[in-house]
Amino acid sequence: MIEAFEEIFGRAAGIRIFRAPGRVNLIGEHTDYNLGFVLPVALDLATWVASAPSPDNHLYVHSEDRNETWDWPVAEIAELKRAGHWTDYVAGVAHQIVHAGIPLEGRKLLIRSTVPVGAGLSSSAAIEVSTALALLNGRHMEPLELAKLCQRAEREFVGVPSGIMDQYVSVFGRANAAVLIDCRSLEHEYVELPAAGVEIWAVNSMVKHALGQSAYRERVEQCAIAVDAISRRFPEVTSLRDATLQQLESTPLPSVILRRARHVITENARVKLFVGAARRRDLSRMGELFLESHVSMQHDYEISCEEIDFLVQSAIGIEGVYGARMTGGGFGGCTVNLVRPDAVKRFREQIVAGYRERFGIQAPVFRCIPSAGAGEV
Ligand code: GLA
Repeated sequence: MIEAFEEIFGRAAGIRIFRAPGRVNLIGEHTDYNLGFVLPVALDLATWVASAPSPDNHLYVHSEDRNETWDWPVAEIAELKRAGHWTDYVAGVAHQIVHAGIPLEGRKLLIRSTVPVGAGLSSSAAIEVSTALALLNGRHMEPLELAKLCQRAEREFVGVPSGIMDQYVSVFGRANAAVLIDCRSLEHEYVELPAAGVEIWAVNSMVKHALGQSAYRERVEQCAIAVDAISRRFPEVTSLRDATLQQLESTPLPSVILRRARHVITENARVKLFVGAARRRDLSRMGELFLESHVSMQHDYEISCEEIDFLVQSAIGIEGVYGARMTGGGFGGCTVNLVRPDAVKRFREQIVAGYRERFGIQAPVFRCIPSAGAGEV
């Protein structure tokens, strides 16, 4: 990376490299902005940022993926607005750093990433967190503040009303463990996964239906409508995290709102059941919960799509697959699968062949290795 950096920007002293991982969410989908529970895993797929000072007081960024360089005078960063461009993640983080009162000096950044974009593996959180570390350049920030700052970049600058999961796990991830996050208290616990007997595999559908962003915003709004109605009868309910199925069922609601809320309430319960099953090493129960989660996303939250449903159906038909579900925001991206180690070869061959035959698409399949959270390399 240092060589690549000097090729783009010329020789520089004091180059530092920061890394932040992507994630795969095991269970707890669309529960984060409802202040519930999620169970993601930080991946070995990550974004790296090499950075060095720039004496001319500009912030430069070069993306290897895009082979593009952009720059802004540091003095203008406080007033920057979204450009609808990949640089928004970098500009958004710089903008938040300035607004947090942290002095920013001129820097040059080279960005390299192995997190596939649009695959539901949080390439955006990986770029946000690694950029923030590079801009802080070793200055201390509490890890939770770092995650929140990056979430604000996503919500306020990029304009996606996302929850805290992706940035949080990118900061707090740990090797060999999933991170159980309580999205209300913002505390977490590490959950060790049964080391023997199961591997986590992702299958990338290679589709991302355009609907994604507006549908996400619509789901956030529908959840707020549900909370509003439930809280009129049950004032103790201030988010879907607090609501029970009985409370939901005794509240008159349009059917679509009822289904959205039912997904969130049951999904929160599934996260806890899944953690219990993982601690008991009950792989078949873990697999069942994966499938229940998927069906709930399919019919109640309506965020799946034909390609993903096909991948899930095919996976669970393969001997040695405990469970499969879509992971991430929805409308495409990846499925996550719990696979018995001796079944991996068969799983990979069958899933790829079946998908190619049905949709004419070659689906990348890769093992998810729970990895450490962000830091300097
Ligand atoms: C996206 C968002 C997260 C979360 C998931 C769905 O990844 O960024 O905050 O809401 O979707 O679980």
